[in-house]
Amino acid sequence: MSDRAALLKPPEPFVPNETTETPANPHRLPRTVIPVRYDLTLRPDLDEATFTGNCTTTVEVLTATNTIVLNAVDLEIDEVHLEGLDGTRLHPELVALDSETERLTIELDAIAEPGTWHLQLHFRGVLNDKLKGFYRSTFTDGDGNEQVIATTQFEATDARRAFPCWDEPDLKAVFAVTLVVDPGLAALSNSAEIERTETDDGKVAVRFADTMKMSTYLVAFIVGPLEVTAPMDVDGTPLRVAYPKGKGHLTGYALEVGAFCLRYFADYYGIAYPGDKLDLVAIPDFAFGAMENLGCVTFREVLLLVDPERVTQPELARVTEVIAHELAHMWFGDLVTMRWWNGIWLNEAFATFMEMLATDAFRPEWEQWTSFGLARSAALDVDALRSTRPVEYPVVSPEDAEGMFDVLTYEKGAAVVRMLEQYLGAEVFRDGIRRYLARHQFTNTETTDLWDAIEEASGEPVRRIMDSWIFQGGFPVVEVDLVDDGGTIRLTQERFGYAGDLGGDDELEALRGTRWAIPVILTISINEVLTVERVLLEGDSVDVPVVEEIDFVLVNTEGTGFYRVRYAPDLLAALATRAATALSPIERYGLVDDAWAAVLADQMTAAQFLDLVGSFAAETDLSVWQRIIGALGALDRLIDGEPREVLRERVRALLHPALDRLGPAPAADETDRDRQLRGVLFEALGTIGNDHNVGDRARALLAESHRGTDVDASLVAASINVIAATGSAAEFEDFVARFAAAPTPQEELRYLSALADFDDPELMQRVLAMSITDQVRTQNAPYLLRRALSNRNQGSLAWFFIQDKWETINERFPSNSIVRMLEGIRTMLAPEVASTVFAFFETHEVPQGDKILAQHLERLEVNVALRAREAERFARSLT
Ligand code: BES
Ligand code: ZN
Repeated sequence: MSDRAALLKPPEPFVPNETTETPANPHRLPRTVIPVRYDLTLRPDLDEATFTGNCTTTVEVLTATNTIVLNAVDLEIDEVHLEGLDGTRLHPELVALDSETERLTIELDAIAEPGTWHLQLHFRGVLNDKLKGFYRSTFTDGDGNEQVIATTQFEATDARRAFPCWDEPDLKAVFAVTLVVDPGLAALSNSAEIERTETDDGKVAVRFADTMKMSTYLVAFIVGPLEVTAPMDVDGTPLRVAYPKGKGHLTGYALEVGAFCLRYFADYYGIAYPGDKLDLVAIPDFAFGAMENLGCVTFREVLLLVDPERVTQPELARVTEVIAHELAHMWFGDLVTMRWWNGIWLNEAFATFMEMLATDAFRPEWEQWTSFGLARSAALDVDALRSTRPVEYPVVSPEDAEGMFDVLTYEKGAAVVRMLEQYLGAEVFRDGIRRYLARHQFTNTETTDLWDAIEEASGEPVRRIMDSWIFQGGFPVVEVDLVDDGGTIRLTQERFGYAGDLGGDDELEALRGTRWAIPVILTISINEVLTVERVLLEGDSVDVPVVEEIDFVLVNTEGTGFYRVRYAPDLLAALATRAATALSPIERYGLVDDAWAAVLADQMTAAQFLDLVGSFAAETDLSVWQRIIGALGALDRLIDGEPREVLRERVRALLHPALDRLGPAPAADETDRDRQLRGVLFEALGTIGNDHNVGDRARALLAESHRGTDVDASLVAASINVIAATGSAAEFEDFVARFAAAPTPQEELRYLSALADFDDPELMQRVLAMSITDQVRTQNAPYLLRRALSNRNQGSLAWFFIQDKWETINERFPSNSIVRMLEGIRTMLAPEVASTVFAFFETHEVPQGDKILAQHLERLEVNVALRAREAERFARSLT
């Protein structure tokens, strides 16, 4: 088979599921002894930041052995023995902890025969401050006292930091947890509390019900000065929100969304909620956004606790999506679980897809699938790079699993699931999901199990279609031509790439030859009558016959396909003239987004792009404007001086009429999206447009809002960013103070993030210095630095700071956040700065995100090339 032919055929799925006695992968445990049930007691000492534990694991010995291998890391093991059901005790001759492979090996003084045994372990550990395993989180209460919480984050492979266990997703077991805590502290875990007993040393032992059979990464325990809302009964499931003392007034919205989602998913999946209660828990220090521990879901405060009166639509939508996402996992992920971490993409992609469905059902007026356009674009943007990867990707070590936490897993994954759903029809697709969950509940699966279930439900070649999207990186651009004197629409596919990206050597030629099975949905207009057609474009091209002369053809109806479209010039012109009347917002969004991608691919000039968006003056949709404004911001980075002033002028001329149409303040019957659009236009005018009147107004609005006048939240949030862009040292001080005293998590984050936007080297140095002190939580600091990197004029200072403090940063910040922080390097455009970025990463690694780092670097190259191409040409076109 030629290389090219080999590329046409998706590779076989990588299945590292060796359940053999001695797997070749050192990160996989032998299956000679496997767990069935953990009876786990933990005693955290919050003052000392330590814990002790004992665990009786009921195990099945499958093959006679004197060796037991399980996972443990950073634990002290005090006592081990194995006890048979008849009371036989085997004692260890050797207990060895290997910190490299994170394993505990126990060699016994005799052979354990096949059958059921109890492994007894006593151990100790430290409540760390790395936001993983069993860790310490702190907050200052209303009286100014520091309070401590002990909490957990186990996914992907950190349960082993809290108790010795078989820490692989397919080794499911029942967990019976007891927490021994100071009276007065809240204690939460995955299931309902069933018993409280006082201990001799004045503590309480809180016992929780047995969980269902589940994976170790879903176990959670939380102890601390938390309060809990009264339970809300949701069709028999008690739902509560737990929060740091004093924030009870911010819990109502989460309860409403939680209740909605529990009902929505039970109905969609056709299976009752698998837990016995559900707590949504706000944690002050949290490495991720949220985590789907069964029955005990943990969140960053900003993603759970809101005051609906003070929040913007995107902030509220985000809270809704995150709750929906984690609750979607209670079934998809928790009840049915991937066999190994190569399947994490499906877990996350599917939950992201469901998060959109549920949020769309909860607030149809938010038009979630239109906003999803922006998420899809982010995925297309990375997937256009040579350094992209297939969505499903081999995972050998825990570090590999961490590297899967990216836009390809979440956004591309969700987008291709949506593409499939829309192609098959929502109901057929849902039937497939129901089949899959019912068939595999309490067990583990491969990706193909899902495709097979949907294939059965639909009768379509689901596996073939999906394999082409999952096992090969990249995506196609579909070219649309009219041939046979207008009698045929010809669709041709080719791999899409940015300028200079594909082409040249043989390897690249082969990449170009990648083909997908593209489920194309297209709209054909004949005599102003629209018909929607479906075709599967599998080879190089496919012809769609048309009976009469067409007015226009739109490929990628409703924008649900994960591909770009390139029209022949006449077809594009025909489409563009009808965009405002015949296309939906997401379809107009697609025109702009594909055009901007064409600029990056050197198939359209910046000047042509600016002309195109000039024709969007009458645009009314939030997402379309966001896409246009994003591109205008990128154009603004290409030029300086007089041409930049001209661009600013054109930005103002484009955006002002749109803002004026909306009026200065929300109308009574206005939609949430229009309310947000006002903020978005206002902010863009005050920043990219450099409109001084907007600056003045922002200052007036914020002052009014501080005086207690009711100012719309979107305008308040926009004003903060407008002020930061041109702000003084005094305004910086004011923002620092407001950040520290913010009444809600969202406002706290708005002020903190805006600090990175001030255009002043000294203020930038202040932000940078702050980012590695206790003034900024380590959960937020990486994202503050990311924003600092993208500061147009001061970003290079942030870059030099990160280089300088590289070790401190790596020690201090959560490991998953390092590569996310580095996303900001994509805009280090000045060639002399860009070269220091490339040089630095020649000698510095981010092993837990090496692929993602390579993508940031390549994306930087694309930007540098764009600037080299366009700086002069674009400047000339403006003056
Ligand atoms: N399970 C993930 C969190 C996770 C993923 C932890 C991989 C460790 C490794 C959780 O369901 C999740 O996806 N959280 C997101 C928020 C979500 C709404 C997109 C996050 O933390 O960003
Ligand atoms: Zn998730």
